[in-house]
Order: sequence, then structure tokens, then C-alpha cells
Amino acid sequence: MLARRAYIPDDLLPSGLPDSRPWPLTVPCVAQMAEEGMLFERPITFLVGENGSGKSTLVEAFAEAWGLDARGGRAGRKYVNDRPKTVLGDLLRWETTAAGARQKSGPRTKRRGYFLRAETAFGFMEAISGMRGYWEEDTSEMSHGEGFLTVLANMFREPGFYLMDEPEAALSFTSCLRLVNLLYDLGESGAQVICATHSPVLAATPGADIIEVGDHGFRRTKWEDLALVDHWRRYMNNPAAYLRYVTEQ
Ligand SMILES: Nc1ncnc2c1ncn2[C@@H]1O[C@H](COP(=O)(O)OP(=O)(O)O)[C@@H](O)[C@H]1O
Ligand SMILES: [Mg+2]
Repeated sequence: MLARRAYIPDDLLPSGLPDSRPWPLTVPCVAQMAEEGMLFERPITFLVGENGSGKSTLVEAFAEAWGLDARGGRAGRKYVNDRPKTVLGDLLRWETTAAGARQKSGPRTKRRGYFLRAETAFGFMEAISGMRGYWEEDTSEMSHGEGFLTVLANMFREPGFYLMDEPEAALSFTSCLRLVNLLYDLGESGAQVICATHSPVLAATPGADIIEVGDHGFRRTKWEDLALVDHWRRYMNNPAAYLRYVTEQ
């Protein structure tokens, strides 16, 4: 593991009552992190929660605070530090492990890590498809999902810090299982992954920690207790019971 805790130092917090603070400090999970920090206890952590609960806001700020570009991309890129950070990325700090401190303070080119967001990953895939040598396979002959996994598999060979925002977007059920396998291996290799997801398949990665975010703020939750899993289970059992409400006039 590389990072143990994300927090905002007291002297950086805007003064005044929590309610009067600017966005995104008013988003419940961010407000809770501002109060007490967020602990990371396992190599893989999933952030799960409804749309608008603050997952992307957190993951982007985590990336920036680690020196990764919030627009997505790999560590060690030039110019990352020349761009203004997001509000939260600017306030956030990492408490690292010894291995994390070595990576973070080392030369830019030695940094390993990647911020993967679905939007930029697609553009990235287009840019590199057909470029052999970077990886053995020719990704231009693959489907989007296949190429995506090939690129991920190659990129993930080193124990860096990986932040992901809904990486399941391009992936089928079977491809999601391959991503679970990749994530699991990454976790075992000394890397660290923090991943926002709506996928009950990804969230079930063995040994992973799950933090559920929502109106309550954030809390550690077991996979079987997630609202996401409950919804999927009940929907798969009986879609009609859900659809009655959806189509009711
Ligand atoms: N630049 C912004 N300024 C103000 N509010 C924003 C901005 N970006 C997102 N929000 C709001 O912050 C909340 C959290 O958004 P987001 O982190 O994207 O949620 P999630 O990724 O969990 O769907 C949402 O209510 C969203 O509308
Ligand atoms: Mg999001």
C-alpha cells in the first residue's frame, strides 16, 4: 500500500460553519472527510454510491493530491503541476506509507500510477490503437472493451497508485471479471487502487474494502449490505416488480 489516509489540514479549511463552506465541502462525503479524514486500510478500495453522491469529486481530488492529472492519464507526465487544481485537490493531503513516500517524493519519471476515467480512456484508446511496441497486441483490431483491458493489463504491471472512475463503462460482464482479476493482482503486487464504481461485479473483488457514500457521508460497508447489490438482486429476481413503479403514470 502507498497511501493510508486522505485529509484536509485544519489550517486549510475555510473558517465558519460547515454549511457555509463553498462547494464541494458541502457534499456530505466531502464534508465528513474534511472533519475526520478518510482511511484506506486495504490495497483496493471501492467507492460506491448514487449519482451525484460525490465519488468523482473525491477520486479527482485524490488523483490531483497524488500529482496525477485530474483529466485522466498516467503519472510522470510533464506539465501536470502547471494546471490549476480543483478546489478539493488543492486542499487535500495524503498520509503515505514509507513506500508511498518514496514514490511521491521521487523523480517524476519514476512515479507509477494512472488516473483512469472512462471519458479520457476512450480518447486515449483511439490515440494508441494500432501503435504496436507499447504492447504486443494490436489494439486497433480489438473491440473497445478488449483493447481497453489490454491497455490496462500492460499499464498495470507496476506497483503504482491507480485511481479509477467507473472503469466498467466499456466492459461486458465477462470483461468486468477480467478487470476483477487485474485489480486483484495489482492489489497483491503492492499497488494501491481506489475505484469509483456502480458495478456489483467489480465491488466484489476479493479482499477489497468498500466505502459507501451518500447523504449520510461515507461509511465502510460489506458487499452484501450495499444498496447497489440489494437493488440488482431484487431487479434480477423480478424486473416487473421494479418496472411497475418506473412506468406508472
Ligand atoms: N463544478 C461543480 N460545481 C458545483 N457543483 C458541482 C460541480 N461538479 C459537480 N457538482 C455537484 O457535486 C455533487 C457530486 O458530484 P460527483 O462527484 O460528480 O458525483 P458522482 O461522481 O458520485 O456521481 C453533485 O451534486 C454535482 O451536481
Ligand atoms: Mg461520477
